[in-house]
Amino acid sequence: MRIVVLTGAGISAESGVPTFRDADGLWEGHRIEDVATPEAFERDPATVQAFYDARRRAVASVAPHVAHRALARLEGALGDELLVVTQNVDDLHERAGSRNLVHMHGELRRALCTACGARPRWDADLAPRPPCPVCGERMLRPDVVWFGEMPYELDRIEQAVVACDVFVSIGTSGAVYPAAGYVALAAAFGARTVELNLVPSDPMIPFDDARAGRAGELVPVWVDEVIAARSS
Ligand code: OAD
Repeated sequence: MRIVVLTGAGISAESGVPTFRDADGLWEGHRIEDVATPEAFERDPATVQAFYDARRRAVASVAPHVAHRALARLEGALGDELLVVTQNVDDLHERAGSRNLVHMHGELRRALCTACGARPRWDADLAPRPPCPVCGERMLRPDVVWFGEMPYELDRIEQAVVACDVFVSIGTSGAVYPAAGYVALAAAFGARTVELNLVPSDPMIPFDDARAGRAGELVPVWVDEVIAARSS
């Protein structure tokens, strides 16, 4: 049984990573367009670097929770039949043990060199403008996908979505494309669709099974159901 799980900020909320659209419409006190666009970076690189440096440090101080661990457990049972596609730039899925994972919006723990295109692993601050370890230019930016930029690995994701038997959306508002369109794509190709979210989102087509609640409660239960169904 091939399963694609799409995750969003809601799965990391119970680890203490704030979501984007829940509270006051601001992301950590900033309008998204002031920190998450190429134009913002061009206009004020110091502010954008400092913002992502703070996010990188914040994520280093939190830990994965039961929902992340449940998805790693599911990978243990399904192996390559499970692909987790995350919109999150934190590394909580891999710290919980997920390996078959795509970070479609990039990763806080990588830098992107705008001079040579290298994407080195990066845990330090970028505001001091360190040199690229590959080409030596001081042109590193966070390796996160900003609005107006192309997400990573879209071909691989779309191939998995059209081929899956079950598509599951966890903790995402469905506000940002192309991720928001995957449920319709999966359904069009015959997948059963499941949503596990604090509040039901409003997709183009309704999910076959929409469960409302915290990821920490819903995800382990759903994973247990899948594993039990598989072994029965
Ligand atoms: P959002 O902040 O838009 O949505 C978070 C979703 O998680 C909402 O539907 C909440 O109801 C739900 N939620 C909150 N707490 C939850 C919990 N404990 N358990 C389950 N669900 C919970 O975040 P995303 O959908 O991830 O893109 O946002 C998508 C993209 O927009 C992000 O990747 C980012 C952002 O701008 C880029 O930066 C390109």
